[in-house]
Amino acid sequence: MQETGVSNRKIRDSHTNLTLRFFDKVSNPKSIHGIYPYRGKISALDAAQVISQLPSDAVLLDPFCGTGTIVYEAQAHGMRAIGVDNNPLACVIARGKTESIDKVSTLDDLSYAISDAQIQQDVPSMPTVASKYFHPDTANQIMRMVQVSTHFNSFLLSALYGAICVAARACNGWLWTSTSIGRINPPLRKIDFYSTLLRKTKKHMGFVNKGSPVTIHTYDSRQIHEIINENSIDIVYTSPPYFDALDYTGYYSKIVLEILAMDRTSIRAGLIQKYSTYRKDMRIALDAIDKVTHDKSLIIFVVGNRKVHGELIKGSEFFSEIAPWSNPYVVEREYTNTASGLWDKINKTQRKEQILVWDLARGSRRSG
Ligand SMILES: C[S@@+](CC[C@H](N)C(=O)[O-])C[C@H]1O[C@@H](n2cnc3c(N)ncnc32)[C@H](O)[C@@H]1O
Repeated sequence: MQETGVSNRKIRDSHTNLTLRFFDKVSNPKSIHGIYPYRGKISALDAAQVISQLPSDAVLLDPFCGTGTIVYEAQAHGMRAIGVDNNPLACVIARGKTESIDKVSTLDDLSYAISDAQIQQDVPSMPTVASKYFHPDTANQIMRMVQVSTHFNSFLLSALYGAICVAARACNGWLWTSTSIGRINPPLRKIDFYSTLLRKTKKHMGFVNKGSPVTIHTYDSRQIHEIINENSIDIVYTSPPYFDALDYTGYYSKIVLEILAMDRTSIRAGLIQKYSTYRKDMRIALDAIDKVTHDKSLIIFVVGNRKVHGELIKGSEFFSEIAPWSNPYVVEREYTNTASGLWDKINKTQRKEQILVWDLARGSRRSG
């Protein structure tokens, strides 16, 4: 475990030290974050550890919030948080994690919906590609549940979408790892989807915060200033998309999007992803983020290294160059001797991550 002290200031009043302490576990299954297996989720333990050192009366923005790991942890810390992501599926999950729910009526809703699903007439067939992953009886139960889910709150929708992913894995004999997702392993096993969904709902609902409201916008962060007031954000904390690294509509989401008849191609077209336009797109997003921050904001980006056409591009250098702010603190994270390091060994990768911290109170706004 490494520890690095980063000089920082409390947004409201005094100066303080922000310590970024690195955990050697990348996810915590006993939390709300396991509700949906989104690609590129940030470690909730890391996020909670950073957030715990920030003032709880600050307004936090995650402009690439994905499934809302950071905004959920900010809410748990008492902050007012805003998340923005241009992937509508991710936004449902982010809302599901952060909207307050009445547990009794949510469970009642689900029980009624399951009874309703069982007696549905005219159940549509599951779309062709998705249907290859499920036993036909499980596929039929999924389609029945989707049909009765129109009035679900975001938490129940998140549990439903997460349960579809669990069922896909279970029908395939639990053989999927993060590198073999989507491989069909016959014979497909029959899974009772209703009990899978009920179990998932009960498992995660205990972790919903009773904290301050969180706002999640499905929007393009390149135009974030159109929906968020100028100078209104105290802290920006995010893990941005990275060039060609991950397809946020792929992985398990590919199956869920097809079942929900959501247009994957058009969702993907609204995301910053392609290397050829990445620099330009990210610059626009950073300029938009600059507009909504103020002279004393703190901006924290978690970035990584990428190899593009044989050339290693270091995330911290790339972002230092294009950001409208200068002189970030850079904290380098390596995975050697950690659980993630073991993962690197298996996959023959060498991931490196850096955390950039721009403290605008220390005069790092280029324009200022
Ligand atoms: C690294 S992921 C963030 C994951 C998140 N921290 C979590 O734990 O789930 C980056 C996110 O950026 C989103 N994104 C990409 N381009 C975007 C854009 N133009 N506007 C808003 N969000 C975008 C992707 O949909 C993806 O969810």
